[in-house]
Amino acid sequence: MSYVATDRVVGSVTNTQAQPDLLGNLFPVGDELDVPECRVTGKVPEGLRGHFVRNGPNPVFEPIGTYHMFDGDGMLHGITFDDGRVSYRNRWIRSRGLALELERGSAVYPGLGDVMNFPPREVTGDAGPVKNPANTHVISHADRWLALWEGGLPTEVTPELETIGEHDFGGRLKGSMTAHPRLDPVTGEMLMFGYSLFEPYLRYHVVDAGGELVHSVDIDLPAPVMMHDFITTERHAVFLDSPIVFDLENLGKGPMVRWKPENGTRIGVMPRMGTAEDLRWFEIDPGHVQHFWSGWADGERIEFHGSRFDAPDFAIEADADPNARNENRETGRPARFWVDLDAGTAGWEPMDDLAGDFNRINDGLNGQKVRYLYMSALTEPGRQLGDFDSIVKYDDDTGARTIWGSGPNGHIGETVFAPNPDGDGEDDGWLLNTVHHDDTDTTDVVVLEARDISAGPVATVHMPRRVPFGFHANWFPTT
Ligand SMILES: [Fe+2]
Repeated sequence: MSYVATDRVVGSVTNTQAQPDLLGNLFPVGDELDVPECRVTGKVPEGLRGHFVRNGPNPVFEPIGTYHMFDGDGMLHGITFDDGRVSYRNRWIRSRGLALELERGSAVYPGLGDVMNFPPREVTGDAGPVKNPANTHVISHADRWLALWEGGLPTEVTPELETIGEHDFGGRLKGSMTAHPRLDPVTGEMLMFGYSLFEPYLRYHVVDAGGELVHSVDIDLPAPVMMHDFITTERHAVFLDSPIVFDLENLGKGPMVRWKPENGTRIGVMPRMGTAEDLRWFEIDPGHVQHFWSGWADGERIEFHGSRFDAPDFAIEADADPNARNENRETGRPARFWVDLDAGTAGWEPMDDLAGDFNRINDGLNGQKVRYLYMSALTEPGRQLGDFDSIVKYDDDTGARTIWGSGPNGHIGETVFAPNPDGDGEDDGWLLNTVHHDDTDTTDVVVLEARDISAGPVATVHMPRRVPFGFHANWFPTT
């Protein structure tokens, strides 16, 4: 299917009063720009050639009902580094749902908190009952760029950030696809899963290096859960079944997504090309992880790191009080997890007391033991869930932690590692991130030497426009 639209879209959101998730730098930008040259302070490293692309929600129309950050139409912000010159382009992702709303001139779809309250079929037609905003991540696999949203199919986009359309792997992908597939840098495979509110609650898939979906497994879970990320080793796929449960019986009566620690938390391990019968489950303390770093296997022992929540609260409950949303909402903390396949045991231990998330590694080592872990953290007083101010680098061999802080007025997004193409070593490259300054309401993209982040940015790209807070980013090198 294809629904490329080349006309520029202009946003029309004005009302933020009753929408906490549209305040400040959560407020969307209203247009699409092409800026051939951005102002740079410092010097862009010579080897840094490619695109830094950040996805995030940016609603075109005034939302229906309570708006949650998970709901907004995806917008890609692309910053291209080319021999020291830096250009900027942003585009909305033209989902089928957005195309319908553009036709009608107003929002048609409710947000996640009210997602089962489908708009009438005679209104939505071919656009379907739920909008797939493709607003969470953007990746490249088998020469295909995919914008991802865990409730639906991936959406193919071009390196110029134009939308091609939803990609279902030639009809082989049944159901949704996580925003966090795992790319194996050795085999070129992409491993992924999708969850569903209806059975089977979980499906696992392997896509080969050529982009063909070659293996799918239906997995039974006791309840439908909101599983966001997983890890893979050279031999295993590893799931965390944590009790963020979709409570369909509560539909129309109260919160549809609920934290139910009484359901327990389990780590599931299966061979990468295994079947549901091969899957082994290991009970651990109740807790949730939204994002992992890498995982690896050492013999029959599997280890991985992730930011662990004792009890997550993402305020997506249908009846959540919008005014209470940002109170007491904690961010996860780094933790080490392990599974001993011989002994049949699993567990976890805290790794640091700093609150942080948006965990990244040198993706060239995904599935292998990594030494360096990158995280966005809260260090300034008064910060709440997701309002990060600092880039943290952990050395997992020595336990050392180094930090670069963006200051009391700084708000950062996800850190992305861009490898030095002429370099060697796990941390030979650069870290890129967005920094929003709330005192000037401007956004920079900073470039730090990954080997010396405390020295601060070697280059700062001053964005020609504010970039609203969003979700995940990636580095797409120019080859
Ligand atoms: Fe994520």
